[in-house]
Amino acid sequence: MRAWRGLRRAASSALSSGDGAASGGRPRRRAWETSLSPLERVRQLLPPEEAAAVGRCAAAAQAPPQTSPEKEEAAAPQVPSDAAGARPGPFRAGELALAEVRRKHNTTLKLLCRLVAGSTLASPGGILPHRDIIGQLPGQVLRTSAGARLLLRRPSLEEYVLLMPRGPTIAYPKDISAMLMMMDIHPGDTVLETGSGSGAMSLFLSRAVGPKGRVISYEIRNDHHNLAKKNYRYWRAAWEIGHMEEWPDNVDFILKDISTAAADMKSITLDAIVLDMLNPQSALPVVHPNLKQGGVCAVYLANITQVIDLLDRIRTCKLPFLCERIIEVTHRNWLVLPAKIKNCKSSQMVETQENIEEPPQKEYKENHIQDEVVLKESEYNESLSDDAETYCSVPYVARPSYWQDAHSAFLTKLRKFGPLLS
Ligand SMILES: C[S@@+](CC[C@H](N)C(=O)[O-])C[C@H]1O[C@@H](n2cnc3c(N)ncnc32)[C@H](O)[C@@H]1O
Repeated sequence: MRAWRGLRRAASSALSSGDGAASGGRPRRRAWETSLSPLERVRQLLPPEEAAAVGRCAAAAQAPPQTSPEKEEAAAPQVPSDAAGARPGPFRAGELALAEVRRKHNTTLKLLCRLVAGSTLASPGGILPHRDIIGQLPGQVLRTSAGARLLLRRPSLEEYVLLMPRGPTIAYPKDISAMLMMMDIHPGDTVLETGSGSGAMSLFLSRAVGPKGRVISYEIRNDHHNLAKKNYRYWRAAWEIGHMEEWPDNVDFILKDISTAAADMKSITLDAIVLDMLNPQSALPVVHPNLKQGGVCAVYLANITQVIDLLDRIRTCKLPFLCERIIEVTHRNWLVLPAKIKNCKSSQMVETQENIEEPPQKEYKENHIQDEVVLKESEYNESLSDDAETYCSVPYVARPSYWQDAHSAFLTKLRKFGPLLS
């Protein structure tokens, strides 16, 4: 670690006293800098003993690990890189692609599209034909007709549910994760959900119970029922094109009022129940007989008075549930950014660090130009404490982001208990 800090300091001072720095611009690369490897380049800047030590460390890191024949045998069946799900390959027509556009105040606009050869993606920074995306590897930055940069990649399930068409409000992914944990959902489980809404929760449940599990999703409204099914099918169809294995077809969407569904569920034992609907207390008397003893019913409620109504109904109707927890999941977004000093005093230092960490200078600067936080010179001097000197050569600013997700809900964990043994 000490050698690395010494190396950074040596590289920093050598580069900032070089030609480019002295002329006030970006340090120009000399011929030997471009022809040598990054490690060889920094070794040129060190005293001979330190350079030799760095060389020894690098050689040790590159040497193949010493393995016994048994270990080699155990490691022999190589897992193909794509066996975990995602095809490692480029975008294909029919897949979902997510385009990210960097905007002011470190915000990012995300656009979702399904790739079709003759279509175009319209962004505030101009259009991009889908045929320019098809065939590219995810993670590629492309330019729109107007010259704006878009980062293209495959969307996560969280991003898909936040961007897919909505009817009723979805359960937010942060709350869904907490509820999946509350219910301790495992692959192979059978879970009851009410209502289907826009289908966000159904998709996460589908993934959690896997191909051997089952999700039964009730919805009272025809339009919501159709939307949930549509969002689910859309994700599955696109998934199959971009991935090696199928997305499980394990959700039964049922158009029915849950309070009339007792007869349908006679022979079903549920591992868990999740209720995201108005008046969840009206569903409890119907669904609780099917929940296994010790199983959890997670209830998503918009305000605390609804929690009181729910608990009061459980008490007055003597339903076999104990309330184990009521939680509100809050996330706070933060920004941690390298500072750009007014009067440009630190610009050399920012560039120095980038040279060591090796992103191509131009591209890095273009992609991160919005991320700079401007410090006044007095603030900069304050920030150069001993700690700053020890850990990095560039001052960073950390503060809560301007953009906070305000949505909140109360998640109530009810545990079903069995009758007292006498
Ligand atoms: C807030 S939405 C659910 C959103 C869903 N969890 C999601 O993540 O997309 C509530 C849904 O419950 C449905 N609902 C309300 N009462 C119901 C009942 N008695 N039986 C079935 N569905 C019901 C509503 O029509 C609505 O679509």
